[in-house]
Amino acid sequence: MEQKDDKGARNNVLRSLVQYLSAINEEKFVPGKTWIKYAGRVFDNEEYTSLMDAVLDGWITAGRFAEEFEFQLSRYLGLYSSSLVNSGSSANLIALSSLTSPALGENRLKKGEEVITVAAGFPTTVNPIIQNGLIPVFLDVQEGTYNINPELIEDAISDKTRAIMVAHTLGNPFDLDSIMKIARDHNLYLIEDNCDALGSEYGEKKTGTFGHISTLSFYPAHHITMGEGGAVNTNDPVLERIIRSFRDWGRDCYCEPGASNTCGMRFTQKFGDLPLGYDHKFVYSHIGYNLKITDLQAAIGVAQLKKIGQFVEKRRHNFAYLYKRLKEFDYVFGLPVALKKSNPSWFSFPLTLREDAPFGRNAIVSFLEEKKIMTRPIFAGNLIRHPAYLGIEKRIGSELSVTDKIMNNSFFIGVYPGISDQMLDYVGDKFEEFLRGYK
Ligand SMILES: Cc1ncc(COP(=O)(O)O)c(C=O)c1O
Repeated sequence: MEQKDDKGARNNVLRSLVQYLSAINEEKFVPGKTWIKYAGRVFDNEEYTSLMDAVLDGWITAGRFAEEFEFQLSRYLGLYSSSLVNSGSSANLIALSSLTSPALGENRLKKGEEVITVAAGFPTTVNPIIQNGLIPVFLDVQEGTYNINPELIEDAISDKTRAIMVAHTLGNPFDLDSIMKIARDHNLYLIEDNCDALGSEYGEKKTGTFGHISTLSFYPAHHITMGEGGAVNTNDPVLERIIRSFRDWGRDCYCEPGASNTCGMRFTQKFGDLPLGYDHKFVYSHIGYNLKITDLQAAIGVAQLKKIGQFVEKRRHNFAYLYKRLKEFDYVFGLPVALKKSNPSWFSFPLTLREDAPFGRNAIVSFLEEKKIMTRPIFAGNLIRHPAYLGIEKRIGSELSVTDKIMNNSFFIGVYPGISDQMLDYVGDKFEEFLRGYK
């Protein structure tokens, strides 16, 4: 790749940028005035310097930073390959679409076949199933873990069931022992939506490394960010090639942007009904998309990824700190539950009002919001009750009573690394203040 090589001038620009950034005062926490957000980006000089470095390259489409990010991310996960895309939703779309590829022969997913999933979650975990003409089979989740209930899966499997696509909800790993066994026994694909769970562990391994494909989101609410972004991860070189084809217009060629004839057979091959030697750069083997990112986004990601260890540690610290404080209120709130073998890298701190609580969810979340403590529902609550999903072709594989309970009684608050102990003390105090009114 061509780079401008006036190193001295470049270093001057980067030094000026750091001087400018150092002159900006950090916002101090003022209880009751400063928002305690449910999530947010945590940047220092490094993200801006890396971004400016990419700007000065003048190379806007995916380039050296994207390559570096993909390499470092796959190394972090311990997987063969990570492919950058422009969002977690795009990552999920590509993950599911990839399993429909003719390159998988008889093992490809076909229209009308079924994919097991849940309705308690984020819409774009489920949407790719529908968008690919497959049928979602909705199962209930467990109280406390907010994850698919593995005990319901075997009974819900039909002769059309081909895959399981579910998220590690809010960073909390689902029961990978049970689900991997079911997937193996019934020859099902597993897609792990790991968008909220970068850094979570189950046993000796990170989540996002168990299934055939996993996905990540780099939207600012997530563990690391590049503004918008996502990744599709796999240990399978055949799937990697398919994933990149779907990402890059559906093309058969796998040259990096700006490169040509990587395979050395650009003008000598025969594809479909095309004439022999048709330029391989313009041969299409999938009905694809363009879901690539820019190198500017990747440059921010490269700086963020270096900090993933400390970010995960801080999330775990914040979660444990808050848990200790809110434990005394468990007579009214169901607290989050993690499986014994797991070590979550929490996205947030979920709470569910007990049935006999003397107040409704809106009372507590309105109070918290008024006190500048941001809250969110557990995403869609029960997805299939939303207008867009009322008429879709679907199968309800079990009662969805816990899903409905989450829709009615659950919410989450933040544990992201931008939250300090002082802020968490304030959060605990406000819960106490609210509950005093009901003693
Ligand atoms: C579990 C899950 N999957 C997918 C997504 C979509 O990610 P993005 O916003 O990057 O499209 C989200 C978004 O928060 C999510 O929580």
